[in-house]
Amino acid sequence: MAVREIIRMGNPILATISHPIKSDDVGTLPGIIQDMIDTMRAAKGVGLAAPQIGLNIRVLVFEIPASRQTDSDRETLIGPQVLINPRIIQFSEEVEFEWEGCLSIPDIRGEVPRHSSIEYDAIDAEGNNLRRNAFGFHARVVQHELDHLDGILYPERMSNLRQFGFVDELEEN
Ligand code: NI
Repeated sequence: MAVREIIRMGNPILATISHPIKSDDVGTLPGIIQDMIDTMRAAKGVGLAAPQIGLNIRVLVFEIPASRQTDSDRETLIGPQVLINPRIIQFSEEVEFEWEGCLSIPDIRGEVPRHSSIEYDAIDAEGNNLRRNAFGFHARVVQHELDHLDGILYPERMSNLRQFGFVDELEEN
């Protein structure tokens, strides 16, 4: 187990489009994936993308708290989730606004519009193809983390920068 340093907004690695993993290389990833899960959990995050530990590769992990899972999530999202080369195949026209944070932008939250539902595919940690429908928080987390692989941070997705601030100030006022 290794908890890695999480790089923060301003580091050009976070603004870079990451490289896909070649299928022959999936077998080289378990150590990196375990470090990503350890790092995410140590930071009490719900998701982490490889660029956040300084690697421009298309790998992300996430773990949805039970309280935020839908019924279908409870059947499919058991334990930490690993997505290699994830792609959003379809998304709803409908968007919803919710507050988000990011481990690379500590102590700050912003209200971000995201598609309410998406269909995505990816390769899992064992090298198998997976394809899922996601709604609500699950859809939001995948959109947020996949954006990291395209060099996008959530403030770039915001439509109202007045809904953006430090957590302790937002909670007090
Ligand atoms: Ni993030």
